[in-house]
Amino acid sequence: MPERLNSAKLITPAPNSLYQLPESIARRTLAELLHIKSDPARYIDEGGAATVHHISDSICMKVLHDRHTSAYSGLFNLGNSIEQEAYFLETLSDFGVGNTRSPRYVGQIVSTVRGEPNILLMEKLDAVNLQHVMNGTAILPKSFSAKIFFDELDRYIVALHTIHKIVHLDLEARNVMIDRETGMPRVIDFGRSRSIASLSKASKVHFMNKDMDAVEEMYQKWQNCQNKKEML
Ligand SMILES: Nc1ncnc2c1ncn2[C@@H]1O[C@H](COP(=O)(O)OP(=O)(O)OP(=O)(O)O)[C@@H](O)[C@H]1O
Ligand SMILES: [Mg+2]
Repeated sequence: MPERLNSAKLITPAPNSLYQLPESIARRTLAELLHIKSDPARYIDEGGAATVHHISDSICMKVLHDRHTSAYSGLFNLGNSIEQEAYFLETLSDFGVGNTRSPRYVGQIVSTVRGEPNILLMEKLDAVNLQHVMNGTAILPKSFSAKIFFDELDRYIVALHTIHKIVHLDLEARNVMIDRETGMPRVIDFGRSRSIASLSKASKVHFMNKDMDAVEEMYQKWQNCQNKKEML
């Protein structure tokens, strides 16, 4: 039995799911996966809640800090548990609008020891972060067209709301990536998302509007950024 099962449980999608955890990864222990985390060559990027690392050509891992044990945990909104975030990713694994989608879910390693990190395994996107492009630290894919991209992002978010009754609630440029091949959006990071299925009509509208306003704001920021670049 792998060592990781002492302190963490590995959860993978249902047996008939398209996205199985490859044997080569399932056999790895938690210690081995955390070793990957310390290899600079495997580092992809990070946000406030996690660091993301390359596992294979098609799979990456998001290592979530256990913020619940932080001395400052009471001071900020902790966001979703790993199980909640994984649930949204799994729900959306087969979902897409046109050429826009989210990373496919692969599995999760949920620590049973407080303070130990949790790991979310997912499809490694061949994409660049929209915020990085705006910062000038990543190259914009040639196939990108702002009008098509943001229209499609809008349609994806509307479908997320109406078909899946999910609101993202963290639609910032850092949580949207651009697929290198198609130039289309990849919506990532469901760490603040929530289901609106059981909410009142007014609450549903409130949260859906928040997402739509966030997309509009992102588009404005993108345009401002392009205008500034043109003036230089
Ligand atoms: N599936 C993926 N494939 C490739 N890169 C990814 C993937 N998921 C995340 N990333 C990269 O890693 C970064 C951090 O991931 P993520 O946004 O999920 O972390 P976070 O800590 O929850 O972020 P935030 O600060 O927005 O809460 C992303 O901004 C993105 O650049
Ligand atoms: Mg993020």
